[in-house]
Amino acid sequence: MNRLRALNALLALLLVTLLLTGCERQESEALPTYTVGMEATFPPYEFYRGTEIVGIDVDILKEIGRRNKVSFKLEDMAFDSIITAVQTGKVDLVASGLTVTEDRRKQVNFTRSYAGAKQVIIVPENSSVKGVADLSNVRIGVQHGSSGDTYVTEHIREPERYTNGALAISAMNAGKVDAVVLDNAPAENHVAGSHGLVILPEPVVEEQYAMALRKGNDKLLNMLNITLDEMDADGTLAAIIEQHMRENKPEMQEQAEGLFARLADDFQTDFIKNGRWHYLLDGLLVTVEIALVAALIGIVLGFLIAVIRSTADLTGRLRLLDWICRVYLTVVRGTPIVVQLLIIYFVIFGSVDISKVLVAMVAFGLNSAAYVAEIIRSGIMSVDRGQMEAGRSLGMSYGTTMRCVILPQAFKNVLPALGNEFIVLLKETSICGYIALQDLTKGGDIIRSQTYDAFLPLFAVAAIYLCMVMLLSHLLKKLELRLKKNER
Ligand code: ARG
Repeated sequence: MNRLRALNALLALLLVTLLLTGCERQESEALPTYTVGMEATFPPYEFYRGTEIVGIDVDILKEIGRRNKVSFKLEDMAFDSIITAVQTGKVDLVASGLTVTEDRRKQVNFTRSYAGAKQVIIVPENSSVKGVADLSNVRIGVQHGSSGDTYVTEHIREPERYTNGALAISAMNAGKVDAVVLDNAPAENHVAGSHGLVILPEPVVEEQYAMALRKGNDKLLNMLNITLDEMDADGTLAAIIEQHMRENKPEMQEQAEGLFARLADDFQTDFIKNGRWHYLLDGLLVTVEIALVAALIGIVLGFLIAVIRSTADLTGRLRLLDWICRVYLTVVRGTPIVVQLLIIYFVIFGSVDISKVLVAMVAFGLNSAAYVAEIIRSGIMSVDRGQMEAGRSLGMSYGTTMRCVILPQAFKNVLPALGNEFIVLLKETSICGYIALQDLTKGGDIIRSQTYDAFLPLFAVAAIYLCMVMLLSHLLKKLELRLKKNER
């Protein structure tokens, strides 16, 4: 009875979370709101200060919003999917220190440019690389999908691609690449924030930044262009840029002597300073929330599929449903979960304003269901055929025998395999960063992109996953023991 009540409470809780995350309320209901795609590890244009995204692009948008009585909702996302996002209508515009290039012009419309920039080379102080000419023989790090990436690939050599510039820099700090090609403004920020790096005076290429919109969205384009013109003429644009450029220097950490002092220091910067541990805690909650709901969807749906498939196997009924289930299993198990997640986010829910957490819950739930289904089906099939016959000859219907005789035994047999599936599911959610969801892994990434330290954030993230998995294993073992006791 108590257990039933607890289960009910849990279900109600999940439902409420689902509803709450599903209908995130728009903050300024009265104003027309546009969503803006950006990749927020790009100081001083867009970056996190605490949990808030700030920067030149953000301030320009705020001013445009103020002058036109509209509001903008910022959407942090992976840079390499930013053009797709605006094309598919996932966001209304992109403001992300985005360089105007001919290739991109074929896909989207650009506003007038609002800032000039250049790609520069960052190297360690003692590097033998002195200019563009020296790049062809060294390993070059770039941000995946950036104009720097395209330029290096087309004119110099195949680069190493990282999700953002800061991670390319920390790869260079770790000796993984010899030079990084990056936009000048974030480059200055990164160099000011790490030790022993310099920017070479000779730029690789000059560029212009502009905002991008879906082709045909001319009303918004006009509004942006007119306001950008005004802001240029009255000096607001220059003032915003200048102010951020002036502040574009993170305070340099004194490097401590000795391993332990260094570690303690890094710990302080990685987790304590600016409340950075919040990224991990908030991320952890998102991870748990997604995994929990996905597991629930997986169980319910997987269970259904398993029953349909074994009924078809055992009785020859439900042929059509069985066929549909088989197609489902083939497709889901035959394609990578990252691709499924991206398809669900960008294609299926492409033009719907739906919370990413909900998308992830659905994607992981649907994926897990396929595996759960096969696990449970193997359990059903492993129960001796005589059990079904015995049940039926006692006068029980097929359904009752299935429910009261077969399934309880099947469940007990597959519990270890099911537990394994949940462990996999929990860790698999770490790919949520692909749709820029701030889960635990992404939380660690954000810290890494701010502190350039790979070691502690990665270990902390790993340790937290490990603890969760150990706890889960422990609970599963308890459940197994309890079921075993009931046997006697
Ligand atoms: N300017 C480069 C480009 O357009 C890099 C921009 C990266 N922006 C960002 N917010 N991460 O490709």
